Amino acid sequence: MTKQAAFPKEFMWGGAVAAHQVEGAWQEGGKGVSIADLMPAASRTAPARTVTGHIEPDKDYPNHWGIDFYHQYPTDIKLFQKLGLQAFRTSIAWTRIFPNGDEAEPNQAGLAYYRDLFTRLRAAGIEPVVTLSHFEMPYHLVKEYGGWRNRKLIGFFTRFAEVCFANFHDLVKYWITFNEINNQTDWHSDHHLLQDSGLVLRADENHEEDMFQAAHNEMVAGAAATIAAHRIDASLQVGAMLAMVPIYPLSAKPDDVLEAQRAMQTRYYYGDVQLTGKYPQWLLRYWQRKDYHIVMADDDAATLQAGAADYLAFSYYFSLVTKARADGLHEYDEHNDLVDNPYVEKTRWGWQIDPAGLRTMLNWMQDRWHKPMLLVENGFGAYDKLEADGSVHDPDRIDYLRQHIQAVRAAVGEDGVDLFGYLMWSPIDLISASTGEMAKRYGLIYVDLDDAGHGSGKRYLKDSFAWYQRVIRTNGQDLDD
Ligand code: BG6
Repeated sequence: MTKQAAFPKEFMWGGAVAAHQVEGAWQEGGKGVSIADLMPAASRTAPARTVTGHIEPDKDYPNHWGIDFYHQYPTDIKLFQKLGLQAFRTSIAWTRIFPNGDEAEPNQAGLAYYRDLFTRLRAAGIEPVVTLSHFEMPYHLVKEYGGWRNRKLIGFFTRFAEVCFANFHDLVKYWITFNEINNQTDWHSDHHLLQDSGLVLRADENHEEDMFQAAHNEMVAGAAATIAAHRIDASLQVGAMLAMVPIYPLSAKPDDVLEAQRAMQTRYYYGDVQLTGKYPQWLLRYWQRKDYHIVMADDDAATLQAGAADYLAFSYYFSLVTKARADGLHEYDEHNDLVDNPYVEKTRWGWQIDPAGLRTMLNWMQDRWHKPMLLVENGFGAYDKLEADGSVHDPDRIDYLRQHIQAVRAAVGEDGVDLFGYLMWSPIDLISASTGEMAKRYGLIYVDLDDAGHGSGKRYLKDSFAWYQRVIRTNGQDLDD
């Protein structure tokens, strides 16, 4: 008889957020201005948040208040403990530690804040998983240095990382360098370029070449930080982080298959570089053909090799589809070469729901990179309604999470994939990164605030809270309602 797939005993169950989406208090504790602080809210119908370098008085900036986690974290951690979380991922806002990014000395108030946060998590039996750069770099580095196209940022980031490792290595073992570094594959998007690399481009610049240059500098910085982490404390684990989105061919037509292969190469070369320390052959040839000149220092190759990531952290929300290009070119342009998948449903925000794609990708990543993996984001953004009695019924979120956890269980239990944890997005409602809405809710805990920051801010437990609590208690075996 075939045994039912199961999770290993030590599998880590958790939840994830990012500093700028929850903390608020954007001008407290000596904090500097981050790129997230300058992004006004957008909406479901007009999603990408426009990039502005200043505060416009007639617009809302939801990251300025978040869910007030900066003040409420002690009581929120109690709720996470009640939920049974074994791990909690958040980020350190770079601007709380180095307000402008280029100072010589860190801001002590910022260090004290995160020390208390991580100490309380540990006291609650929750393992902190910490991202160093989650869409929230200091705006000063964008304005004065041009973002990651400037190699000076390698030094600034490495100093920031070293300060964090030195101050928190006794509390934080699992680190992540750059959140979803590969989102900038969509280099037509001002929003993604700013979030990932602090790039604001002039019309006459080649956006794709600039993106490759910025990403190179970031990956060298990530490797340098990884080397520093191991020097400071050999037990630290530093992960690369990718937005894992399978891109399928629309049909079995060989040209569609070839195009999907190129799409996957284009979207995941960042993984090749960060996990193996090497650029893939196809990309070096692509740069040659396009006459792109990516500036690299003599010792970059050695740094990338010596600083290869210890593990792969990744998010998974949806899948995409492509087909052969009309111009016959064997290239992939994420902005123009995607088509709809006729076989899957979508969320209200148009995100294609595809749990099987998660199992496919877990196998694909295992075969490609042979590194331990940690799923650090997976969740369902939806409208929720707070009932008069304080309950929130969210069966669709439960369904989404159940199907994805089943896919993970099959990949781990049946396929033997080396995944050591599942951190859902998110234990608590927060500000959406793409639209800035509060109405696009992901949480198991409801926060009574609207898009403009109005409301009591009180926390309520949704139905999904009790459901996930049981999933954790039964180590992923009891997934029923
Ligand atoms: C990931 C990001 O892209 O997806 C998170 O790492 C983000 O920061 C999450 O919140 C969900 O996306 P959104 O745009 O719905 O908030």
